[in-house]
Amino acid sequence: MVEIVGAIGISHVPALAPMVEESSSSDHERFNDFEPFRSARAWLAEKNPDALIVVYNDHGAAFSLDLVPTFAIGAAARYERADEGLGRELGPAFAGDPELSWHIIDGVVPEGFDLTVCQRMEVDHGLSVPFSVLVDERLDGVRVVPLAVNVVQQPTPSAERCFELGRAIGRALASYPDEARIAIIGTGGMSHQLQGPRAGHINSEFDRMFLERIVHDPERLTGFNNAEYIDLAGSEGAELVMWLVMRGAIGDRVDEVMSGYTVPVSNTAAGVIVLEPTSGALLEAVGGA
Ligand code: DHB
Ligand code: FE
Repeated sequence: MVEIVGAIGISHVPALAPMVEESSSSDHERFNDFEPFRSARAWLAEKNPDALIVVYNDHGAAFSLDLVPTFAIGAAARYERADEGLGRELGPAFAGDPELSWHIIDGVVPEGFDLTVCQRMEVDHGLSVPFSVLVDERLDGVRVVPLAVNVVQQPTPSAERCFELGRAIGRALASYPDEARIAIIGTGGMSHQLQGPRAGHINSEFDRMFLERIVHDPERLTGFNNAEYIDLAGSEGAELVMWLVMRGAIGDRVDEVMSGYTVPVSNTAAGVIVLEPTSGALLEAVGGA
């Protein structure tokens, strides 16, 4: 039987990965700021998942802006990294889990979530940064199901639609026939804007409200429309809708394991939250024992 071991919401700002590693030296002045990210990494290693569903966004790297799927899921056995023009070696490919991908596709498409299915797909820093921050060597070989959400080109899907997609994924996972330990990761945010006159916009009050409500009151977060997300959290802060896919997928009742927040990493407010399903809650949600 499948076990949903928990879920993580986390920023994907590229400067985060080196900060989490570098600041492990005890004299680093921001040592404590990055402790929550290291705790999330330790939690994930302890939960020892076989597969990670990573809800992320592409930044015009793998999908050109001529061809932007609203929701795209990978169904491949491996995912190469997209070349983001940084002139560095790209790093190893990620192992896929086609069986789990197809189970999700077969579950959610008949429910009206017409995902674009990608049997070949590259992934950018939206996926690889949280992977570097969260996955240590104990999880070597962990499989990945990438789920890309368009948050870069209008019109983007609403927070409510993202939450409902997550719930449909949760229902699909509940009927997965194989033994598997699965964690769900939603990436992006927190508040930030990288472009235009409001570049550097950060809204800590909004971020703290988001971290609080996503635990027990996520529906309230689906009440903001996309223009409001951009207005409050910044044009790239609107990436936070991907945390709502994660939150929908993990079930109605959850417990917060830990959370953390630091400002700024690069020009971005960075946050992390770790959630576990309240025991028995997932079975109740699908009408089980
Ligand atoms: C940064 C933030 C992002 O969300 C991103 O995709 C790239 C860079 C940043 O703050 O540097
Ligand atoms: Fe981003």
